This record gives sequence, structure tokens and C-alpha cells, in this order.
Amino acid sequence: MDDKQLITELNKILTLEHGHLGMYENYGTYQDKDMRRTFRRFTELEMEHINKIQSIIRNLGEKPSLIVEGGDILGKLFGVSMHVTGDREVLKVYNFIEQKSHQGYSDFISKLEREDNKMYQFVAEITAANKLEAYLQHLWLKDKLDKI
Ligand SMILES: [Fe+2]
Repeated sequence: MDDKQLITELNKILTLEHGHLGMYENYGTYQDKDMRRTFRRFTELEMEHINKIQSIIRNLGEKPSLIVEGGDILGKLFGVSMHVTGDREVLKVYNFIEQKSHQGYSDFISKLEREDNKMYQFVAEITAANKLEAYLQHLWLKDKLDKI
């Protein structure tokens, strides 16, 4: 991976994180108190993910830019309908997306770790936190899906 590819990858991740934020930010509409509260916290987490990725891109001297503009980012990228209704459907689709996110971060971090480059190792260290949180979000969604 060269520096240009690194920025492209980071902008792709940034776009996905914007998509994640879009999934949770309407947390106030849920009847289920557990989902409402958790999605509120997930909204904050997604903002942290966005900020972290933006800050990496800026510190590499580039300008953060989304690869897909507005609207249904995740639907476009994954070919799934994000216009889901009903708690079970929401949990199922969001679980799928968070699993994808965790997998995406894992692949990205492995690629970085194969490079003998201190800066790339540092990016791997920072993004590993987002990877962990995507995994924790996936676990919560899966657990909730089993209980609902
Ligand atoms: Fe995220």
C-alpha cells in the first residue's frame, strides 16, 4: 500500500462511518428503551469513529472527502436496503453492517501491519480502537436480536 492508497482507504472508511452514524442518529424514534439508549450511545461512538479517521487524514496532510455523497451510503455500497422497518429487521441489518465494518477494519489493519513503515503502524494502532468498537456493537446487536 502506498500513501495515495492509504488516503483512498481512509476516505472509504470515513464514508462508511458516516453511513453508520446515519443508522443510529434517529435513536429517539425507538419504542424499545434498551435500543433507544444503546443507539444514542452508538451515535456518539460513530461520531468518535468519524473524528478519529478525519484527524488521521488531516494529520497526513490531506483533506477528508467522502467517496459516495449523501443519501443511502451503505445501501449503495453493500446492496442492502437500509429502509428497514421493525426492530428485528433493524437489528439484523445493523448487525450485518457492523460485522462488515469489523471485517473491513481487520483487513485494513492487516495490510498496514505488513508494511515496514512506522507511520502505517501508527495508523493501525489508532484504527484498532474503531475495529474493537465495531465488534462490540456487532455483539450487542446480535445479543439483542436473540432476546427480542
Ligand atoms: Fe463505526
